[in-house]
Amino acid sequence: MAARSGVTARLDTALTRHAGTAVPLICGAMYPCSNPELVAAVSEAGGLGIVQPISLTYVHGHEFRAGLQLIRRLTDKPIGMNALIEASSRAYRKRMERWVDVAVEEGVRFFVTSLGNPRWVADRAHAVGGVVYHDVTERKWALKGLDGGVDGLIAVNRRAGGHAGPKDARVLYDELADLGVPLVCAGGVGAEAQFTEALGRGYAGAQLGTRFIATPECRASHAYKDAILRSRADDIVLTERLTGVPVAVIRSPYVERVGLRAGPIARRLLRGRRTKHYMRTFYALRSVWQLKRSLLDEEHEYWQAGQSVETIHAVEPAGEIVRRFAEAAWRAD
Ligand SMILES: Cc1cc2nc3c(=O)[nH]c(=O)nc-3n(C[C@H](O)[C@H](O)[C@H](O)COP(=O)(O)O)c2cc1C
Repeated sequence: MAARSGVTARLDTALTRHAGTAVPLICGAMYPCSNPELVAAVSEAGGLGIVQPISLTYVHGHEFRAGLQLIRRLTDKPIGMNALIEASSRAYRKRMERWVDVAVEEGVRFFVTSLGNPRWVADRAHAVGGVVYHDVTERKWALKGLDGGVDGLIAVNRRAGGHAGPKDARVLYDELADLGVPLVCAGGVGAEAQFTEALGRGYAGAQLGTRFIATPECRASHAYKDAILRSRADDIVLTERLTGVPVAVIRSPYVERVGLRAGPIARRLLRGRRTKHYMRTFYALRSVWQLKRSLLDEEHEYWQAGQSVETIHAVEPAGEIVRRFAEAAWRAD
């Protein structure tokens, strides 16, 4: 089978060569859902689990280096790390730099950057032979990322969980295809059909989030997992009330009650040149706390998920998902 030999055309892509994995499938960083057991299970099965540092430390309670070492005890296969690099606060930037350095020391060689200028992460990764893929939702951000020295792009489309982009996976692929770096499809991949379709279109792999919440390894509450199994694509709504920019969440009585748009004062402050950084920091800190509470409690405010909920019908071990997807891509070859 392909995950064993790793040589079929669909499974041997620029992403697997960069990441050193058997399967071109990433379990994307998820605040607050990325816990060490989930990251390790995906990597152990041949995919690439990505560590989300704030989730690892603040939500799941591991000191950062100790958390990475825990993952290392569960798998010796490659893992990646997500560096959210928006410079909204100097203290946060310092902490992220420290985390990237620790990750490098602990052998992490694959980094996913989001927002901001990825140059400093690229410099540190390249110095040790690592690679950086940058999350983008449109061409202008892709060009900025490439200016910052990244090696690949994660094309986040409109079906994605978390901060979804405005564009369809096909449109986004066409918009980025000439840039000469590997493209990874993020959003809407919940079952084998969308995975093989993305690879068939030319994507070097797929980054999944929502699918991996509905696994025994993910520490999200049963209620959150059940909501993913029950929901359809049109139950996913974009709310600005969580972080100030649209985030995909499952519609719930709470979400309906508070509405989807930021209030008029918040919107003005989020746009203002001098106020936008403070506002973003305020939203970021508040959402970090709100989402942590929503992860483990049956009582919740926000459950993030993407439109791939439509194709997710069972809680399944993360490794099974990776193997099933690899098998399907291998058969489609
Ligand atoms: C609950 C949740 C939390 C997420 N948190 C992050 C994050 O902290 N950093 C990040 O770069 N992407 C984050 N994402 C995006 C995922 O890494 C991935 O790109 C996305 O989930 C793909 O879409 P899908 O959910 O349809 O598979 C998150 C997604 C979800 C569902």
